[in-house]
Amino acid sequence: MSQPRDNWSSNVGLVLAATGSAIGLGNLWKFPFITWENEGGAFVLVYLICIVVVGLPIMMAELLIGRRSQKSAVGALKEAAGPWWGVVGGWGVLAGFILLSYYTVIAGWSLYYFAQSIGWTFGGYPAGMAAGDLFNEQVGNAGLQLALSLSFSVATIAVVYFGVSKGIERIARIFLPILFGILLLLLVSALGMSGSGEALGFIFRANFSELEMSGVLEALGHSFFTLSLGMGAMITYGSYISRKQSIVKASGAIVALDTLIALVATVIMFSVIFSVAGMSDEVSGSPVGMLFISLPELFYTAVPFGVVLGPLFYVLVALAALTSTISLLEVVSSYVIDEHRIPRHKATVLCGGAIFVFTIFAALSFTGTPFLSTLEIFAGKAGWFATADHFVSNWMLPIGGFSITLAAGWFMTRNATERELVDGTEPRWFRYGAWRFFIRWVAPLAVGAIIVAVILGRDFS
Ligand code: PFF
Repeated sequence: MSQPRDNWSSNVGLVLAATGSAIGLGNLWKFPFITWENEGGAFVLVYLICIVVVGLPIMMAELLIGRRSQKSAVGALKEAAGPWWGVVGGWGVLAGFILLSYYTVIAGWSLYYFAQSIGWTFGGYPAGMAAGDLFNEQVGNAGLQLALSLSFSVATIAVVYFGVSKGIERIARIFLPILFGILLLLLVSALGMSGSGEALGFIFRANFSELEMSGVLEALGHSFFTLSLGMGAMITYGSYISRKQSIVKASGAIVALDTLIALVATVIMFSVIFSVAGMSDEVSGSPVGMLFISLPELFYTAVPFGVVLGPLFYVLVALAALTSTISLLEVVSSYVIDEHRIPRHKATVLCGGAIFVFTIFAALSFTGTPFLSTLEIFAGKAGWFATADHFVSNWMLPIGGFSITLAAGWFMTRNATERELVDGTEPRWFRYGAWRFFIRWVAPLAVGAIIVAVILGRDFS
């Protein structure tokens, strides 16, 4: 007899675990940067619209596909829409594999900056040190990169090893409240800074003349990444929901929390940047630059109580990244567990180990190692790191997401989807009619637009 499937212990457990997956480097690393690049206000508004009309319906679709079959991505899609749809699930598993291979490297940097900032807290920030040089030194150090990413991989494997309720849910229950607490502290401190008014204006005052079409597509693409959609992560998490829990309420809570955290993180970072004279002209031209080059120095030179908040900030980044990496490993491991009948402990170590081989490639992408740093599959994308990021963000997630909208909106029967969403507590048109319209029409058209843009040469990585 096979063991009964492990489930989330309650709706709160599901919401925390799925929110943990959603809140990650996308919120702290990518969103503030693309908001900056796209001139704030109007971009943020468009992003919010994308989250509601595309992200939320796909979140509900993924969770319901998972819950209906109680299987991970491949098995769930086969059962939902037909045997061929297993390929879409497999595509998602591959996306999880590749994404985790380089996500771990950035996550590892947060450990480095945590350790450094603890050192600065006690020893003082080295006068005259160029923050950019520090960053280049650490990414160029092969031994250090391998040690950091290995530590992060081991932590990820250790959580998934213990399973859904005893591993993933338990960690989410402990870490997410800590993460919210740290963010709140940082927010209070940031709002007290002189640049906070300008930051709020930049983020929330919409000026549509500054928004270009490419910004709209970028908002759309990011709404996918940030909600962990398009690769079966939420199908997998959905497969551990019991029949008593409400998918509509859980989806609403996950999406709202993820969006709130992205906005709060952006307010914090921009308040710091606008408070330092001349800093807004200097923000380094990449997401990495903002999080790992501009901010560390600012904590020690401009932020009140920065000596305490600096290390805490990097704890926050590490915790957010860990609750995302565990969901990525869970997508891959649960496929091996369900489809190949390999016990969880063995599957987790095997999958985590196989992914780490590619993490080595990603970790060495910046070190000048021949081949790994120069490998170029896509124009201008050198190194496994950039190549993988390019492939996942531009092709894998949008194609996966598009297919999931088709599976839920067009290939599953109305009866099957309605049974998962409607429980009689709200008007049917609200629970079901609106969702069905968005998943059949709005979401596929919007995601289709991203795919067309990528074919025409746009780059969302
Ligand atoms: N949502 C995560 C972030 O914003 O960083 C990234 C991610 C995690 C995407 C897990 C997909 C996934 F399955």
